[in-house]
Amino acid sequence: MKVIAHRGYSGKFPENTMLAFKKAYKAGADEIELDVQLSKDNVPVIIHDEFIDRVADGTGFVRNYTFQELQEFNINKKFGDKHGFNTIPSFEEYLYWAKNKPITTNVELKSGNYYYNELEEKVVEMLRAYEMEKRVMFSSFNHVSLIRCKELIPEIPCGVLTLKEGLGNAGYFASKYHLEYYHPDFRGLTDEVVQNCKDYGIKLNVWTVNDVEGLQKLYDWGCDGVITNYPRLCKNWLNAKEGTETGT
Ligand code: G3P
Ligand code: MG
Repeated sequence: MKVIAHRGYSGKFPENTMLAFKKAYKAGADEIELDVQLSKDNVPVIIHDEFIDRVADGTGFVRNYTFQELQEFNINKKFGDKHGFNTIPSFEEYLYWAKNKPITTNVELKSGNYYYNELEEKVVEMLRAYEMEKRVMFSSFNHVSLIRCKELIPEIPCGVLTLKEGLGNAGYFASKYHLEYYHPDFRGLTDEVVQNCKDYGIKLNVWTVNDVEGLQKLYDWGCDGVITNYPRLCKNWLNAKEGTETGT
């Protein structure tokens, strides 16, 4: 089971910052999940919300600031000054860092609350420029964005994100649109949903699981990935588990 660091190592470091990504990598995460939006000057930037208020020392919509203006803000709402000054990374900065590392990336297109002009196109363009097409997947709550990504670059796998309520017959939906993964909220996941995905050959990455009870459940279900704020905890648990299971 793959360990996917949710917004980087966000349990301990400011979410969606280069620091959180570097720490997730050091913690042994197999993959990093990050959220992409567009700045006023159409630069793909890594931040979860459409506005900066929840995480940064500022206020307003991401789309109302140029990338240079966004660099003035410190992502310090959760941890204060403990981790120094952390900026909103550009997607390009992330790709430059990730390019030669043995880690994959789950790029979540944040197009569910505000539909940015050409977010999918800009992201794909940048992935091509950095030759990262084979080392990423897409996910989104806006399934139209995934279908657009499939038109642009069919070889990149896509994950259908849903909230706790999930999507009935998700396995069929994903397979019908050639979307390889289902990414449900753990709180709504049941044996039936898992079976429905298996019936259609759809892989499962589940968010957000931060404790061993949840990990055990995903492991027993045979899920492909756990999306977690605590990648080290998950990695340690899995290493111990697989050591036990194989008798080493
Ligand atoms: O990929 C799982 C997770 O990131 C989805 O929710 O709101 O944290 O982006 P959110
Ligand atoms: Mg996300």
